[in-house]
Amino acid sequence: MTDLTTLEAELSAQVAAAPDVAALEVLRVAALGKSGSISGLLKTLGSMSPDERREAGPAINGLRDRVAAALAERKAALEAAELDARLAAETLDLSLPAPPRRKGSVHPTMQVQDEMISIFAEMGFAVAEGPDIETDFNNFTALNFPEKHPAREMHDTFFFNPGPDRERKLLRTHTSPVQVRAMQRTNEKPAAPWIATTMEPPIRIVVPGRTYRCDSDATHTPMFHQMEGLVIDKGIHMGHLKWTLETFIARFFEVEGVVSRFRPHHFPFTEPSAEMDIGCDRSGGEVKIGTGSDWLEILGCGMVHPNVLRFCGIDPDVYQGFAFGLGIDRLGMLKYGMPDLRDMFEGDTRWLSHYGFSAFAAPNPATGLS
Ligand code: PHE
Repeated sequence: MTDLTTLEAELSAQVAAAPDVAALEVLRVAALGKSGSISGLLKTLGSMSPDERREAGPAINGLRDRVAAALAERKAALEAAELDARLAAETLDLSLPAPPRRKGSVHPTMQVQDEMISIFAEMGFAVAEGPDIETDFNNFTALNFPEKHPAREMHDTFFFNPGPDRERKLLRTHTSPVQVRAMQRTNEKPAAPWIATTMEPPIRIVVPGRTYRCDSDATHTPMFHQMEGLVIDKGIHMGHLKWTLETFIARFFEVEGVVSRFRPHHFPFTEPSAEMDIGCDRSGGEVKIGTGSDWLEILGCGMVHPNVLRFCGIDPDVYQGFAFGLGIDRLGMLKYGMPDLRDMFEGDTRWLSHYGFSAFAAPNPATGLS
């Protein structure tokens, strides 16, 4: 029994003197670990007579519990002291600016596309889309481009090799083939009575999308974005076209109003065809829309050619329409002052973070455009 008292006194002194948690752990292993001093004593209980064990058992177990409690108490005290020391030594300056976080941004072309759609949507236009890979028929033939006509080459078309059926697919050179797709749906029978697959006139659509031409300089890239507009109804005339486009341009550039002029032009799919210029001011070195006496070419447009209506199964004696094609990237460059079209598709994140838009600033008629 004296042994136990001595051992306990020794261990208590060592526990009290342990300088840190690591030293305490060494003590714990030496006393209570597998081959520790107290564990060794516990093992001797097995070889004792029941009388001896009745006396030694509670004594050794009591010793083990008291030593374990002392170790735990000292550990808690040491940890608390360590924390106090850290709190005293370390300071945290909550006024420091947080490190910058990289955020993605909306590409200007997509932002401008959304702005345009939100304006046309308010005017009652729906959005229609078509594939980037088109048939020669939709891109040219149905749009009244004569067979073998040089106008087909005018577009610097990317053609695919002809397929087994000898049909030559291409990357659409403009969004106008979606005019054909939309008008042809007028003649489709719905797949079921409750599916609205037909699109009876009046048709009022805008068609945003990628277009392709083999061309590259500061204002041309092999891939760019266009938005087509198409309105088909009874009694549609150039006046409707002019009002729609002037209203759109003024809203897009956020000016009171714009003046415009139509210059005669040729597109096979419109008659008459025009290029629309809008009034601007170039005197300050940059282009200001809505004032001044200079002109800026902005888009191609015209009245839908009767042949196109016929190709699409619409009677030109009953329905008329207008169409226009806008360069989305080009309008974005004008509005947000981006000098080179090629930069828009380089994927340079410095350019994107400079000209990009916050994902939370999506344009809509309620919150404004930009
Ligand atoms: N598709 C023509 C182009 O890309 C633009 C256009 C569209 C002209 C609709 C008239 C009508 O050049």
